Formats: sequence, structure tokens, C-alpha cells
Amino acid sequence: MASVPLVDRQKVTVPDLLRMKGLEERITMITAYDATFARLVDLAGVDMILVGDSVGMVVQGEANTIPVELDEMAYHVRLVSRAKPTALIVGDLPFGSYQVSPQQAVESSIRLMKEGAECVKLEGGVVMAETIQTITRVDIPVVGHIGLTPQSFHRMGGHKVQGKKSGFEAGGRERLLEDAHAVEQAGACAVVVEGVPRDLAREITQKLSIPTIGIGAGPDCDGQVLVLHDVLGLSELTLKFTKHYADLRNGAIRATEAFIQEVRDGTWPDDQHSFH
Ligand code: KIV
Repeated sequence: MASVPLVDRQKVTVPDLLRMKGLEERITMITAYDATFARLVDLAGVDMILVGDSVGMVVQGEANTIPVELDEMAYHVRLVSRAKPTALIVGDLPFGSYQVSPQQAVESSIRLMKEGAECVKLEGGVVMAETIQTITRVDIPVVGHIGLTPQSFHRMGGHKVQGKKSGFEAGGRERLLEDAHAVEQAGACAVVVEGVPRDLAREITQKLSIPTIGIGAGPDCDGQVLVLHDVLGLSELTLKFTKHYADLRNGAIRATEAFIQEVRDGTWPDDQHSFH
């Protein structure tokens, strides 16, 4: 499959997201946490790069995203922005960097924008509406995130699918519809819908004027996002809502084994790779 040469691609901007929804062009988003992988996924032609707080789990080895700090997100956003991708860079606000007050949220968003984010993402619906409105008022575009919000790990009792039960309590089906509307009304430019039943994601997508980007939310969203380590097959597990499009985990182990073997048997380095 031929990839689109970078030179032919236009920079993806925030208004493009709405335009793509209007044209029913599916939006693609993938996570990246450094310049190397940001370049690779950009060369492949992805529309949005999410510098996600999933870095806590897939890079830092944490069990969930709660320990990730704003300084760490700022660092990873800086690395990704050095790749100067054509894709839109979304900087994820980590737990504790926006929940205290709208003012704290604006300050944290400014921090990520100065490092090269082109919009920020935060988790929460109705309760985060005022915060989203305050950030967007200073012209920082916001991507919302509803459904299975990983920063709500302890409230949910783990990474659990939301919206299966009816109700207006957090995680209830009717509440998720309210969350989606609240995020839209607050001025978000798109919303990630994670870990909800397919029919609910479809209903949200049909009702909203802003694009929905699904993960574990079925095929009817306006776009899809996956974590880089899952797409590349670097993760050990394949979860129900993820897919390994390559097997770089085994590739990495085999390559390292080959290096170890050649060093041990004295075939690396050979004369060709030596200086004279
Ligand atoms: O941090 C992240 O990678 C995310 C995606 C799972 C949407 O929030």
C-alpha cells in the first residue's frame, strides 16, 4: 500500500475537523510520544497525533494514567512538535492539571500550547463544561473525552466500558448523552468517545455537530483513535477494542537476540563495519 508523500499533504488544522465531518471523511488519530514515532505516523498520513497521557502506561510502566505529571506531558509534546508533523498535534492534559479550577486548566493548556500542542484534550462531560468554555474563550481549541475516561479509573473501578446501564449517574447512558451535548455546547472542536456500546456512540455521533473520535466505541464514529503501541504490536496484550497491525514486539525481541548472538559468537562487528 503506497503512503501519501508528506510533500503533497496540507497541514491539518482545527477547522479541518469540522469540514471532514461535513464531508463524511473519516478522521484518523494515533498517539505518539516522541519525534521518531511522530515522524513515522505522520509519513503514514494520519490526521491527528495525540500526545496522550497513555504515555504513563505504555512508556512509563504505570498501571493507569493518574500519576502522569504536566511537566512530563510538556516534555513529550515538545518532542512530538520537533517532528513538525502535518498532522494536528493534540496535547493531553494529565490528571490534576485542570480539575482544580478553570484558571488552572487555562494555565496548563497554555503550557502545552507553548511546547507545540495545537489543541488540548481533557476528560469529562457535564462537570468539565465550564472549564472547556474557559479554555476555548482564550482561543485554545479543546478536544473533549467522554465515556471510559481513564483518569476516572477509581470511580469506574478499573478501565470499564461505560453507558451499558441506563441513568443520569456518571457512566449511565442518558448521562453520557448529556456529557456529549455539554462538551459540544462548551465549544469543543471534537470529542473522543471511549469504551461505550456501539449504538450509543452512533447516537452521539448523529446528534453532535462536532466530530466524534471513537476508541472501543464501534465503527460509527466520525473518526478512530488507537494507541501507537497497540497499532504496532508493541503491547503484550490485544484488548477487545484494539488491533495489532504489525508485530514489532517480536520483531524487537528477535533483532536484539540476533545482536546478542553475533556479539557472543564474534561475528559483530565484522571488518566492513570497522574503521581503518
Ligand atoms: O491518552 C490516550 O492515549 C488517550 C486515548 C486512549 C484516546 O486518551
